[in-house]
Amino acid sequence: MHGTDVTAVFDLPDEAATQRLGADLAQALQPGLVIYLDGDLGAGKTTLARALIRALGHSGPVKSPTYALVEVYVVSSLYLYHFDFYRFESPEEFLDAGFGEYFNEASVCLVEWPDKAAGCVPSSDLRIRLQHAGDGRIAELAANSERGASCVRTIASIRAAGNSCATPEPR
Ligand SMILES: Nc1ncnc2c1ncn2[C@@H]1O[C@H](COP(=O)(O)OP(=O)(O)OP(=O)(O)O)[C@@H](O)[C@H]1O
Ligand SMILES: [Mg+2]
Repeated sequence: MHGTDVTAVFDLPDEAATQRLGADLAQALQPGLVIYLDGDLGAGKTTLARALIRALGHSGPVKSPTYALVEVYVVSSLYLYHFDFYRFESPEEFLDAGFGEYFNEASVCLVEWPDKAAGCVPSSDLRIRLQHAGDGRIAELAANSERGASCVRTIASIRAAGNSCATPEPR
């Protein structure tokens, strides 16, 4: 799918800022969304996903799917699948595991290490890239579909309304 021009950049000076972005993202979700979480080891992908899942109302633990490959949540009448493909040795493992059927119009999929399943995992509506920046992080959001663009706009407007600490930098 082609990229759109809809992007946003947020400074995340500490872990709490990552958690706030996750909570903002929770308010911008719609069924069918596929969100890639990119970034090096320890960039904060699971931290963001955990805050999002908690903000949707899940009160139990939110484990990193590094070993299980996927954790499933049913929250706010939504099926949410949190994947981590770090341990894949080849992208075909995605197909062997039968994960394709998890990507449908009734689910939201969060995908850590999507590049490890490149060519097999469905394309994203939204790509969130987390990067180390000093002691903190920077998050770059880039929409790849109209659905992803709507998500970025919603997050930007939540934050512009002063409900979060970071300020979006429109490009
Ligand atoms: N904005 C931030 N500033 C500083 N530290 C942060 C920030 N966001 C998250 N962290 C910290 O980064 C650490 C690693 O986070 P996390 O496990 O979420 O990374 P990850 O990207 O999922 O890594 P992996 O690729 O291993 O799955 C955690 O200790 C978390 O507290
Ligand atoms: Mg992780």
